[in-house]
Amino acid sequence: MKFLVINGPNINMLGIREKGIYGKESYEELCGFITRVCLENGIEVELFQSNHEGAIVDAIQAAYGRADGIVINPAAYTHTSVAILDALKAVSIPAAEVHLSNIHEREEFRRHSFVSPACIASFIGLGFEGYRQAILKLKEHIEKNQ
Ligand code: DQA
Repeated sequence: MKFLVINGPNINMLGIREKGIYGKESYEELCGFITRVCLENGIEVELFQSNHEGAIVDAIQAAYGRADGIVINPAAYTHTSVAILDALKAVSIPAAEVHLSNIHEREEFRRHSFVSPACIASFIGLGFEGYRQAILKLKEHIEKNQ
């Protein structure tokens, strides 16, 4: 089983940006955490981070026929991007959404997610743990539907 894990804009600034909201751990530490979780669960993983909407769309399209599942934290594009929603729908690869912070308890504009309708589940406000839960949920979903 192969997963693509996508992180959107400013996630590469983890450990530097708004530590009170996103924590002290870096993007490299997040990558290590995700890699370990996947390894423990027999999942091959590809990690992708970009600050550019089109690059994220390209990465989703490139996963067609190559990835069994997509874990995505679209970051700020969550609240704006019909293009990322359409890309997830286009490839029809099971996807799970993750947000480190609780987007429902922050500014009003963060409450709506454009990508949720293309995801089997959303893990919100759990920090790194949200990625673990998303990976396990996707694995279970894929195995059930095989
Ligand atoms: C985020 C929440 C978004 O609202 C924000 O723009 C981010 C990160 C999160 O992981 O909590 O950059 O997706």
